[in-house]
Amino acid sequence: MVVAKRALPWLAASLRPVSSTAADSLPKQVKIVEVGPRDGLQNEKNIVPTQVKISFINMLSETGLPVIEATSFVSPKWVPQMADHTEVLQGIQKFPGVSYPVLTPNLKGFQAAVAAGAKEVSIFGAASELFTKKNINCSIEESLQRFSEVMHAAGEASIPVRGYVSCVLGCPYEGKIAPAKVAEVSKKMYSMGCYEISLGDTIGVGTPGSMKEMLSAVMKEVPVRALAVHCHDTYGQALANTLVALQMGVSVVDSSVAGLGGCPYAQGASGNVATEDLVYMLHGLGIHTGVDLQKLMEAGVFICKALNRRTSSKVVQASSRL
Ligand code: HMG
Ligand code: MG
Repeated sequence: MVVAKRALPWLAASLRPVSSTAADSLPKQVKIVEVGPRDGLQNEKNIVPTQVKISFINMLSETGLPVIEATSFVSPKWVPQMADHTEVLQGIQKFPGVSYPVLTPNLKGFQAAVAAGAKEVSIFGAASELFTKKNINCSIEESLQRFSEVMHAAGEASIPVRGYVSCVLGCPYEGKIAPAKVAEVSKKMYSMGCYEISLGDTIGVGTPGSMKEMLSAVMKEVPVRALAVHCHDTYGQALANTLVALQMGVSVVDSSVAGLGGCPYAQGASGNVATEDLVYMLHGLGIHTGVDLQKLMEAGVFICKALNRRTSSKVVQASSRL
């Protein structure tokens, strides 16, 4: 797919400032955490060649994105798509001012990540017992014990740690998850020292209503400045859910270029909100991201070609038809 250059003037319209009433309750700036190289590629049937992953991340680094989650140091038996984590992390160009966090489920993963040069890591828990068991093969309590070992080692190495809480708006195995449970797990991970808690709607079942209810509960335990949202788009609600989070004061949003993504241990999960669509919406709201939409679209086209799949970004689909 070719992104038409003549689409640009139209896209530029999304940069027009909005009226002050619409923008008043929204953050002026949003930090986008690009998770495509990890969340996206972990869920592809075909294993993407290491060199393609490296080129993809290098292209993303050119776009102005401040954070690009590069890979994960999990068991290659569980997620073979991420087995080349060391080669990827060592092969990419590290752009100044861009961070390249990696997932580490336990101390073994943390040590391997640091040996490969990781400067930031993420631990990933969940508000659902059954999902935790399926995803990382332990209970929530055991996962927190493993995370505290990672936190301790990270503290000694002065490595910042981000924390994910999955299944915040629903679980493929338990169904509805109580906002109080999400708040409890988020609080524990924040109290351990995670600088940011990313709230994952892993299977994309949330709505603006359930997002609002869940965030209200979590914000009583974790300051909103330390919260991020991570919305999968299975039911087409991801942008709407993200907007509600922004209206409630969240200013960090995870997304995946071309709408890649999904968790191999969450049946029915589809891709994250597409970064292109998120940037288009944020710029349309007059919110600063620092991201060049045209370059971002080119990175999305590159990875879709490599994967031989169609982009899930509506913005890119629309632009290529213009
Ligand atoms: P386990 O089998 O319970 O671990 O797996 P274990 O400690 O019993 O060890 C078993 C084997 O794994 C041993 O090797 C270990 O050395 C090895 P063996 O002796 O059999 O050869 N091992 C490791 N190898 C490499 N890296 C490691 C590691 N740890 C142990 N870090 C484990 C536990 C956590 C490792 C496993 O369950 C696992 O790798 N799970 C991966 C889950 C995953 O990556 N899921 C996708 C990411 S989460 C997500 O997508 C959600 C998110 O996007 C947010 C949202 O959307 O909500 C973040
Ligand atoms: Mg995810």
